[in-house]
Amino acid sequence: MDALLEVRNVSKRFGAVEALKDVSVSLAPGEVLGVVGDNGAGKSTLMKVISGAHPPDSGELRLAGQPASFASPRAARQAGIEMIYQDLALADHLDVGANIFLGREPLRRLAGVVPVIDDATVRAEVVALLGRIESHIPDPETRVLALSGGQRQAVAIARALYWKAKVVIMDEPTAALAAIESRNVLRMARSLARDGVGILFIDHNLLEVLEVCDRVAVMYRGSKVYECRASETSQDELVRYMTGFSVQGAAVPA
Ligand SMILES: Nc1ncnc2c1ncn2[C@@H]1O[C@H](COP(=O)(O)OP(=O)(O)O)[C@@H](O)[C@H]1O
Ligand SMILES: [Mg+2]
Repeated sequence: MDALLEVRNVSKRFGAVEALKDVSVSLAPGEVLGVVGDNGAGKSTLMKVISGAHPPDSGELRLAGQPASFASPRAARQAGIEMIYQDLALADHLDVGANIFLGREPLRRLAGVVPVIDDATVRAEVVALLGRIESHIPDPETRVLALSGGQRQAVAIARALYWKAKVVIMDEPTAALAAIESRNVLRMARSLARDGVGILFIDHNLLEVLEVCDRVAVMYRGSKVYECRASETSQDELVRYMTGFSVQGAAVPA
């Protein structure tokens, strides 16, 4: 199958720090690709290059076979790349529906003339979206302020689904969540993938990575040093690459 997203030979430096060195990865539709590595390995920088927050110094991105370069996160989002951060940018004082529709709610015309938000359609859409990702948000009119961390993730995932994201980036989505909520986020990630979305999944918890991902890429000091099918590796093997132990030419950690 054609790659949905291809990162080709991307490098990115911050002053003296080579945050990314000649990194290439590809993502197929419906695939969950885990990206693991120690703190500072370059995972978030890679995601920020893909989501338009940092321009790469060299290398290129391709989306559905076409060269793509994003001047901003907004441009990347318009092209179908959605980022779901650990501390999500949601509008706390608005309800779940408003956060999903982002001010582009379906309208109806009052007295055939004045456009107003079509609350019934909004409500039905929100209920359907939340049902599709099997989230447990009892009332779509709840303000986001009142939601738990996992429910906030659900809102962001529903928004990605509604706006037909092609690629969803989840950077440490479960880091701040209780165990049960983490389970729900993993389930929602798989459910997005079943809809054909490609997912880049960063997580420190290797058991979660092995459970939810189809493939895993390992970053070490800015380079991608290993890639494999999740079913063909183990926590031990991933840790060996993450710590540079299995990387040729890398210093063996003390
Ligand atoms: N905006 C920035 N300015 C300067 N250095 C940065 C910036 N972002 C990341 N870095 C550096 O780049 C390296 C990779 O960081 P990062 O991509 O955040 O790693 P990870 O997400 O794997 O922990 C680190 O050495 C980090 O300090
Ligand atoms: Mg990071």
